[in-house]
Amino acid sequence: MTADRHQMYNNNKFKLGLFGANCSSGRAINTLPERWRADWESCETMAKLADETGFDFLLPIGRWKGYGGPTNFQGTTFETITWATGLLAHTKRITVFGTVHAPLFNPMVAAKQMVTADHVGHGRFALNIVVGWNEPEFQMSGIRQRDHGDRYDYAAEWISAIKRMWSEDEPFDVNSTYLDMHNVVSEPKPFARSAPLIINAGQSPAGKSFALNHCNGFFTSFRELDVNRSKEFVASYKAEARSIGREIDVYTQGHVVCRPTRKEAEDYFHYFTTEGVDFEAVDETLRLKDITRANTPDYDERRKQIPLMNIGYPIVGSPDDVAEKLARIHGAGITGIGFSLVNYVTELPLLAQELLPRLEKMGLREAIK
Ligand SMILES: Cc1cc2nc3c(=O)[nH]c(=O)nc-3n(C[C@H](O)[C@H](O)[C@H](O)COP(=O)(O)O)c2cc1C
Repeated sequence: MTADRHQMYNNNKFKLGLFGANCSSGRAINTLPERWRADWESCETMAKLADETGFDFLLPIGRWKGYGGPTNFQGTTFETITWATGLLAHTKRITVFGTVHAPLFNPMVAAKQMVTADHVGHGRFALNIVVGWNEPEFQMSGIRQRDHGDRYDYAAEWISAIKRMWSEDEPFDVNSTYLDMHNVVSEPKPFARSAPLIINAGQSPAGKSFALNHCNGFFTSFRELDVNRSKEFVASYKAEARSIGREIDVYTQGHVVCRPTRKEAEDYFHYFTTEGVDFEAVDETLRLKDITRANTPDYDERRKQIPLMNIGYPIVGSPDDVAEKLARIHGAGITGIGFSLVNYVTELPLLAQELLPRLEKMGLREAIK
């Protein structure tokens, strides 16, 4: 299984992945009784189901501290490289990402942890590099969060050192702005000496430039009304990569609610993004951005928007509706989507039975053999 990691070892023109399943409640800040608990048995069941039915990847969130509220949104989370390693051992074809905070992981240790995961999965480990976001997570670790631009400079040194450990046979030194490493060796190399797929989701100019220079994939946001703008962005970003001799794939993220009828799907979506929201956790996400009722006149409006913003692009409807929306995303030149579900186990069978065959008929995916 050494062929092409970009392709995630299959010919699917549009890749599908599940995003956020290592965290309690996934990405939906909800109080529903069926909300995702992210216990190991559920993660394992989800991964096996996704693997057997032909999903392409699992993308976890690097999260260290929950957002409080009655549900403590994302308060229970598995560390992602070890989560990936366990799931790779239980699956056969799906790619599993680790979402790794560069500043929190010593590069020598991280390089080997990821290689271990990669050997367990026979070459199916992939890396999502994150540079830092929520301040309390860093306070908890005792590691100071750098200024924004410096975070990406650090990450560039971090991943460059790791790529060398993954490929060079002779001992080497790294003497750069942030790293001082001597006589570095690292064996074994990644599975069959082929480098893991690397992605990043930075939205700032520094983040986008980091992905262009160091990654194989980039996560952008997709907005239905702006399909042409998404198309232009993807084309120009890929062209920019080519101008520096690189290739990059653009992915997006969202949340799927697929039900036998459009009405059922819309009612469910409406419920968990309004009455079914854990608003105390929403308050905390706003407080982290220094937005409070005291300093924000339209606080209640902002508060209503957060559960929607948090889940990314909503893809809601019958299997026909969902297939059609995914085809529009593909039409913008986007390679694939990582989406969340309220419950990753109970909602998967309908997707496997009704959605995947529709995407196969549309020529976006192939049936698994
Ligand atoms: C699809 C996606 C996944 C992300 N996953 C994480 C994550 O797991 N942990 C994290 O701290 N940040 C995560 N982020 C945040 C980004 O890495 C990035 O910091 C954020 O989009 C802000 O961009 P900037 O760093 O360029 O300012 C994610 C963002 C997106 C769009």
